Amino acid sequence: MTATITSPVSTNIASTDTGAMDSLRALLERAGLTEEAVCGRTGVASIYDFTSVRDGRAPAESRDALDVLIRLFLDGELLDRSVIRQHLPADAVRALESIGLLSGPSADASKQFATVLLYPTQGLWLISDLPRSAAGSPNPLPSDAVYPAITENTRDFITSLPRTRCERFLEMCGGTGIAALMAARTCGHAWTADVTERATRYARFNAELNGFTNVSAVQGDLYEPVRGLTFDRIVAHPPYIASPEQTMIYRDGGPDGEQFTRALLAGLPEFLEPGGRYYMTCVATDRTNAPIEQRVREMIGPANGEFDVVVAVRATRDPTEYFRLNTRAGVLSEKEADARIAAYQKVGAEKLVYVSLAVERHESPQAPLTARRSSGTTPLGESLDWQLDWVRLRESPGFAERLLESRVWCRDGARIRSDQRLTDGDWRVERVDLSVDAPFRTSVECSAETGAILTRCTAAIRVRQLARDLVASGLVGSEGAEEAVVSLVAFFVNAGCLETDLLPSPASIA
Ligand SMILES: C[S@@+](CC[C@H](N)C(=O)[O-])C[C@H]1O[C@@H](n2cnc3c(N)ncnc32)[C@H](O)[C@@H]1O
Repeated sequence: MTATITSPVSTNIASTDTGAMDSLRALLERAGLTEEAVCGRTGVASIYDFTSVRDGRAPAESRDALDVLIRLFLDGELLDRSVIRQHLPADAVRALESIGLLSGPSADASKQFATVLLYPTQGLWLISDLPRSAAGSPNPLPSDAVYPAITENTRDFITSLPRTRCERFLEMCGGTGIAALMAARTCGHAWTADVTERATRYARFNAELNGFTNVSAVQGDLYEPVRGLTFDRIVAHPPYIASPEQTMIYRDGGPDGEQFTRALLAGLPEFLEPGGRYYMTCVATDRTNAPIEQRVREMIGPANGEFDVVVAVRATRDPTEYFRLNTRAGVLSEKEADARIAAYQKVGAEKLVYVSLAVERHESPQAPLTARRSSGTTPLGESLDWQLDWVRLRESPGFAERLLESRVWCRDGARIRSDQRLTDGDWRVERVDLSVDAPFRTSVECSAETGAILTRCTAAIRVRQLARDLVASGLVGSEGAEEAVVSLVAFFVNAGCLETDLLPSPASIA
């Protein structure tokens, strides 16, 4: 069954017609609708920088099928039927119409517009809802509008996810289902769950368009549609904008913006398997005497001792300043901004923090880690995994002996800055600052002696040998030398200044 639509508000993406889906796929392939091609035609470096003609890009031409697809599905233009038919094969136009991706204004039969955005990203083709200014867009947007996957926030979300295999992957608050579809390439089965029927339908369509048979798109409030199942990886990019009412379902996260963040974390003891990991990108708050990493732990609930928590901060903002900026930009009225500022003050929110975080459920009893880091130059998914892997290694039996046998070296790009004071005619090093940009942006202050250790690790050196050298040069006392050096080396590895062959570190990106 296929359905022809008359209004994009009621877009009825019928995905059961396999013939139409095949024609659509053939059209996108033949036209070459890839991220590189769209960027090349529109002069942007990445799909995340795409600017539509409505938003100021120079008017586009219609030389071939790719131009027409860009104008319809990315620019959201109203095009002459004749132009569409000149460049797209007849069976492809029939498929677009029968699926419901192409429609026309009832007052002018000579024109047509797309009912959704359709774009290439991360090697996938995805549909989501049109922005308000597009020709086929309802105004105002429906409250269940499906969030586009080519926003900077979604990019931050997907770069904070590992690309490694897992068996049972769950994307919560899935929207287009982008994370589930990316995971489906390597994992056993991927679920994408969303509260709206519309997002569920779009995600199902996206899975079918990209030819996945191991993806389930399920609908319901939070974990409701997957009750009874457990997962070894759960990811979420929830709504997190503070708002007293939920006007836009993809955006509004309750009075303090943390309504969904709390509920998602509270569900982990039930839905995350031992050894499994949870990844989330959101805005949350540091509160009086309660930084976000500690609050994340509390949000997991009474079982939180079974979990490690690593929070990578991408940016921080003063809440009052943020809402005042929103007022100046015309996003909120003064009254709305005042209400939001008051709501934050009431709960003692001191800073808005934009974070990507990872939580691991221990496979066997282990001291829980709570860490706060700053995002660096490596993809956060790799950095977060590295941090969790390092802690698991550090807590494992026989770690000290293994570290002594391992080789360590200074991270390429590590910086050392020292303050020296002229004392009695001699320049004495008073303090040393070490800093690196990966796997997290880190700066540590240490003594001159400690800093000198790193200068001995320019080339790979066995930790046992390092301990001997340090004793010989008088930098470390002979008693308990190996123990002291193990703990120093472990500190510098954790800081990212040293790398060890026990655990590959995410590569530095210059
Ligand atoms: C910011 S969008 C993220 C979409 C997609 N994961 C991405 O990164 O592009 C948030 C999504 O959460 C969904 N959502 C809102 N409330 C929800 C709830 N109670 N349960 C499940 N999903 C919900 C919205 O429908 C929306 O698709």
